Amino acid sequence: MRPAQSHSRRRFVSGLARASATAWAGQVLASAACAAGDDPAGVDRAEAAGYGTLRVPPTIAGGELVAAVGRQEVWSGTATTVWTVGGTYPSPTVRVRAGATFVARLRDTLAEPLNLHWHGLVTPSDMDGYPSDVVRPGESREYAFEVAQRAGTYWYHPHTDRRTGAQVYAGMAGVFIVEDDEEGALDLPSGPFDVPLVIQDRRSTPDRSFTYAPMPMDVVSGYLGDATLVNGTPNARLGVERTLYRLRLLNGSNARVYRIAFSDGRSFHVIGTDGGLVERPVEATAVDLGPGERLEILVDFSSSLEGTPVLLRSLAFGAAGMGGMGGAGGQGAPLDLLRFEVGGGAGGAARIPSSLASLLRLDPARAVRTRVFALQMGMGPMMGGFAINGRSFDPGRVDARVALGDTEIWEIRNLSQEIHPFHVHATQFQVLDRSTRMGLGPQDLGWKDTVLTWPGETVRLVLRFEHYRGLYVLHCHNLEHEDAGMMSAFEVV
Ligand code: C2O
Ligand code: CU
Ligand code: CU
Repeated sequence: MRPAQSHSRRRFVSGLARASATAWAGQVLASAACAAGDDPAGVDRAEAAGYGTLRVPPTIAGGELVAAVGRQEVWSGTATTVWTVGGTYPSPTVRVRAGATFVARLRDTLAEPLNLHWHGLVTPSDMDGYPSDVVRPGESREYAFEVAQRAGTYWYHPHTDRRTGAQVYAGMAGVFIVEDDEEGALDLPSGPFDVPLVIQDRRSTPDRSFTYAPMPMDVVSGYLGDATLVNGTPNARLGVERTLYRLRLLNGSNARVYRIAFSDGRSFHVIGTDGGLVERPVEATAVDLGPGERLEILVDFSSSLEGTPVLLRSLAFGAAGMGGMGGAGGQGAPLDLLRFEVGGGAGGAARIPSSLASLLRLDPARAVRTRVFALQMGMGPMMGGFAINGRSFDPGRVDARVALGDTEIWEIRNLSQEIHPFHVHATQFQVLDRSTRMGLGPQDLGWKDTVLTWPGETVRLVLRFEHYRGLYVLHCHNLEHEDAGMMSAFEVV
């Protein structure tokens, strides 16, 4: 028996994600089912046009996570070989409450080592997925830590030395949602109206495989695909009711940056960033989302016309936006992500809270030092090397030591022609300023663990490590850049 989606989204389903790929691929949101009932002809038309119903991964609270090779019907009519952790692509959505102890056992049935990293969560060093701290084929290990985090949308994925890009691309990554009372009191859209969306691009090869074979050229910009998958669904469609939705956007792509917007140019409200809710909703019509980043938005379909689809899309930017190099499928190319099919019905009243959360502001005047991290390509000691401060990653070398409790300013300098999403483990930071004229965007406002740096740009952060001592990494979250060495080990002492 399969629980209705509205139930599994509300409840914490503990233990193993048992649903097989085929079983859960058939699950639809309750609202999608309603829309289908209201307008079967419209749905038929959409399916004829090649749209597939948005997949919804199962929800878990922990348990056994088996890394395995599987087959899943990603594109309809063909099975694609995927590597799953927890039985599905994307991986199951973890939902836990702040303060809970999260326990998961990773078992590796693949032919290569791997680990898991809990992106955005602050865990002890030996639970964080340090690149050389891996599980060998045939072995397993337990991850257990207290979720000492604000409510928010985090995620998890392998972090294996030089293999992160390949392992994530093969299908292993999932959303990790933390809930708490402060957020619960806000009465934000919940159940089927709270929709996690994992956005990834893949190359649509003739055999519909997730072949990952970056050529040196691909490593420069990262491994970009021409097909955009949302929750593992190409050309995804979602039936929605005429009411307010909370979308939790995760850019789980290896390298692609999205400029999130809607096809009708409608505005939406940014309510959260990597580290949870912002102080108050910020109205926007387009927001950049780099690899590794999350964005929570409220979008109101209450005045949308029944039968008029609205597309979530990525707008053109950069060279592709100018119609130049990098067009079709390149970085900055315009892409459609998800088609919302607005159903009938009265339309629920949209309540957008005027304030969301109180944010502790880190005071840069309290910083005891400024540290510079220069992100370099082809400028390191090795020609063609991807480096931070001139050095490519070595898991056995500690590049920086930061004292627990010290407030610091980190100056991230992008010294290249490419975009680098800078990510640091073991804390959340706040963005102080950007050297470019674009200034801070809505995605820069709250707590962050990943920040986009544009070619030539310097971004200043203020941060403090206040939980655990130990070894962690910071890196570019373009996974090809990371695997090529744009990563650095630091120790909190
Ligand atoms: Cu999501 Cu160190 O990574
Ligand atoms: Cu991380
Ligand atoms: Cu990079």
